[in-house]
Amino acid sequence: MNTTGSSIERPGVPVATPTIEHDLSLRDLNSFGLPAVARTLARVTNEADVRRLLADPRCGAAPKLVLGGGSNLVFSRDPQAVVLKVEVMGRRLVAERPEAWIVELGAGESWHEVVAWTLGQGWPGLENLALIPGTVGAAPVQNIGAYGLELADRFESLDAVDLVTGRTVTLDARACAFGYRDSIFKRDAREGGLAGKSLITRVRLRLPRPWQPVLGYLDLERRMAETGQAAPDARTIFEWVCAIRRAKLPDPAQIGNAGSFFKNPIVSAEQCRDIIGRDPEIVHYPMPDGRMKLAAGWLIDACGWKGKSVGRAGVYERQALVLVNRGGATGAEVVTLARAIQESVYGRFGIRLEPEPVIV
Ligand code: EPU
Repeated sequence: MNTTGSSIERPGVPVATPTIEHDLSLRDLNSFGLPAVARTLARVTNEADVRRLLADPRCGAAPKLVLGGGSNLVFSRDPQAVVLKVEVMGRRLVAERPEAWIVELGAGESWHEVVAWTLGQGWPGLENLALIPGTVGAAPVQNIGAYGLELADRFESLDAVDLVTGRTVTLDARACAFGYRDSIFKRDAREGGLAGKSLITRVRLRLPRPWQPVLGYLDLERRMAETGQAAPDARTIFEWVCAIRRAKLPDPAQIGNAGSFFKNPIVSAEQCRDIIGRDPEIVHYPMPDGRMKLAAGWLIDACGWKGKSVGRAGVYERQALVLVNRGGATGAEVVTLARAIQESVYGRFGIRLEPEPVIV
């Protein structure tokens, strides 16, 4: 087994103070490449770092912004909060049960590298979630999902430090209250959520045995038909997902973006019928509860936004759901473009699109 060490507190062994930086540019720390400056940024490599920060009179009581890979964030201004950059590392198999492998991952690990690592170790199950940008710690925050699978489907538990008390708590899936691109960590304290109140340090995933492919998504069915492979293995699915994503989604290393900018809206069956009456081609998927999920990309495309720009922020040419930085965009330009799209979709379809990334 290929295991990298995780940072563990040992009684009696002094733990280095977390690195604190001031007036640090965040441009390279957000996948949109938006300009913003952190007045105070602390790099957190373990739970003890968090507790030391909380004990620090300059940082302890200040509001906190937890930053992972910065792939689901829009900086519309400089954050006033103390930025906690999560760099907790470590990957290990913690249990091998007849029905599942349980792996534990540091929150600062790269999500995609972890997907590739588990496959390489012979523990498949994450292949549909390949190439999603960002870190392991950010994955439960918005319950990442793609090609018929969500993080919640593979989740066992996580450890998080309470940013008020400094205590480490372990949360199971129920406590995380996962929803579509949503969890308790995205919700504000006023709604009973933990946004800004808690820092995820470690995530445990459950990879079911025997492995079963998840192939219901249209793009994957198409690949099966094209290649004549009716029973692809996990490695093949991984490669298909990487190829599909590369064809549709911009690589943040080349074009700044935060993946899908809006959630796919969910409407009642009645409202969907009404829209189909006017726009028969609308892409829609039935939900288990009878409601309908609409493809936001289709709605935005139908309003003529694909390839358009407002200032230096634009709508990606190959997928209207993705907003991009055409070079030197500000967060304010991205927000202006997003509002204009929301207004035109509302004007034509009567649907309010909700942003997927967190807007600071
Ligand atoms: N469509 C258009 N025009 C467009 C874009 C899409 O007509 O410009 C149509 C497509 O033809 C397709 C439908 O809309 O019939 C849905 O598009 P797609 O299959 O690309 O998926 P999506 O709904 O746009 C969602 C997730 C993605 C995830 C894919 C694959 C959300 C908000 N987005 O996109 O997640 O990778 O499904 O599972 O749920 C992300 O969250 O950042 C993300 C990329």
